[in-house]
Amino acid sequence: MEKEVVLGLLGLGNIGGGVWDLIREFGAETAKRTGVRLRVKKALVLDKRIHGGKEVPDEVLTTDRSDILEDPEIQIVCEFLGGEQPAASMMLRALENGKSVVTANKMALSLHFDELRAMAKKTGAGLYYEASVGGAIPIINAIQSPLISNRIEQMMGIVNGTTNYILTRMAAEGAAYETVLKDAQRLGLAEPDPTADVEGYDAAYKLSILGSIGFHSRVKVENVYREGITKVTPEDIAFGREMGYVLKLLAIGKDNGEAIEARVHPAFLPADHPLARVDGSLNAVFLFGHSFRDMMLEGRGAGDRPTASAIVGDIIQAAQNAEHPMPYLREDPLPVADDWYSRYFLRMKAKDEPGVLAEVTGKMAKNGISVSAMMQKDADAEGKATLIFITHSASEKAVRRAVKSLNPEICRVENVIRVEDAVEA
Ligand SMILES: NC(=O)c1ccc[n+]([C@@H]2O[C@H](COP(=O)([O-])OP(=O)(O)OC[C@H]3O[C@@H](n4cnc5c(N)ncnc54)[C@H](OP(=O)(O)O)[C@@H]3O)[C@@H](O)[C@H]2O)c1
Repeated sequence: MEKEVVLGLLGLGNIGGGVWDLIREFGAETAKRTGVRLRVKKALVLDKRIHGGKEVPDEVLTTDRSDILEDPEIQIVCEFLGGEQPAASMMLRALENGKSVVTANKMALSLHFDELRAMAKKTGAGLYYEASVGGAIPIINAIQSPLISNRIEQMMGIVNGTTNYILTRMAAEGAAYETVLKDAQRLGLAEPDPTADVEGYDAAYKLSILGSIGFHSRVKVENVYREGITKVTPEDIAFGREMGYVLKLLAIGKDNGEAIEARVHPAFLPADHPLARVDGSLNAVFLFGHSFRDMMLEGRGAGDRPTASAIVGDIIQAAQNAEHPMPYLREDPLPVADDWYSRYFLRMKAKDEPGVLAEVTGKMAKNGISVSAMMQKDADAEGKATLIFITHSASEKAVRRAVKSLNPEICRVENVIRVEDAVEA
C-alpha cells in the first residue's frame, strides 16, 4: 500500500525546479520502490509569473510562506531558497510546526545548525541535508549510518565544483585565473559575483557541516581557516607538477582526539592521490576512519538533477522514518586548532647571487623548518631567479614567522601553498 506524503517547496529555481521535475517524471516509479507517493501541494516563489519555465499548475504556486509553513496537511518542507535569511527562519518555523525539513542550503544550515537541531529535537521533526554537501554524493548518509562505527580521523574534500573547474583548466591550459574565471562565468559554471566560490566561503560552510557530523563536535564556520584560489598562478601549478603535485582547493578536517583542524585552502596533493584525478566540476570526499581506513566518494556536486537526486532521497527517508535520526554531537566541543602541521611549497623571486640560499634556509632553520626539495629556474630579464622550496612537515605559525622574517631585498615570497600528503594507511 502506498502512502501519500504532502510536500511544500520553498523556492522553485534551479534546484526546486529539478526536484519538481524528478518527482513528476520518476515519482510513480519511486512510489513503487518505496511505498511513498510524493505530492507537491505548494511551491513558494518571489514572482508567480517566473518559475523557471516549469509546467507548474497555478494553484501550486504561492508568494505567501504561511501557505506552506502553517498548512497542517503539509508534512515535509523542502527549502531551496538559498542564502541565510529568510531561509533559516522559515526552516525553523516549519520544524516548530512539527514538519520535517529537507534542505540543500549549506549557508543557512551551517550558520543556524544549533538552533535548527534544537528545534527538531524539541518537536520530533526531522532535519535532512544530504544535498547541502557534495550534491548527489551520499556523504552525509555515509558518515551517519554505514560508517558510524568509526572514529573519522581525516576528511579531505573537493566540495566546490566551480573552483575545481577553474583549477583543472588552469592546469591543462596554463591559463591565468582571470581568463578561466571569465569563461566559467560565460558557461554558467561561476556566478556573476564569484566570491562565495573562489574565496572558499562555500567550501567552508560545507566543511563546517561535514566536520560537525563527522567528528561529532560542532565546527563553526567562523573557526574554519579559509583561503581561496585567487592568488594561484599557472606558474605555481606548473612548478608543482614538475615536483609531482596537483593543485586542488581542499576542505580539510582532521581530528587528533584533542583538537580539530578545519581549513579550506589551495593545496598540493601527490599526483597519485585519489583526489588528484578528480577534475572539472566533479566533487569528491576522501575519508580516513580508524576501522574502514581510507575511502573516497566521488560524483556530481551541483546541477539541478544530481542535487534533486539527493533531495528526493532525503524526502523519502523523512517520509519513511518513524523516528528521525539526529547526529550525536558531544556537549563539550573540541577546540578548532589555530595551528597545524603540513608541508609547504614556497615560491620566491630572488637575486641570482650568492647568499640567497643561506638567507632562506637560515631563516627557516631558525624557525625549526627544514627543506625537503628545492628547484631553481633561470633568472628573468630583471636578473631575478625563481626559487621553489618544499619543506618537511612544519607548523603553520612557524612558516608564517619564517616568511615574514625573510629580507625582501634578497628574496621576495610570491606564494605559499600547503602540501598535503597521503594518509599512512
Ligand atoms: N545550484 C546548484 O547546483 C546547487 C547545488 C547544491 C545546493 N544548492 C543550494 O540550493 C539552494 C537553491 O539554489 P538554486 O540554484 O535553486 O537558487 P535559485 O535558482 O536562485 O532559486 C531560488 C528560488 O527561491 C525563490 N526565492 C528566493 N528568495 C525568496 C523569498 N525571499 N521568498 C520567496 N521565494 C524566494 C526564487 O523565486 P523566483 O523563482 O520567483 O525568483 C527561486 O524560485 C541554495 O541554497 C544553493 O546553495 C544549489
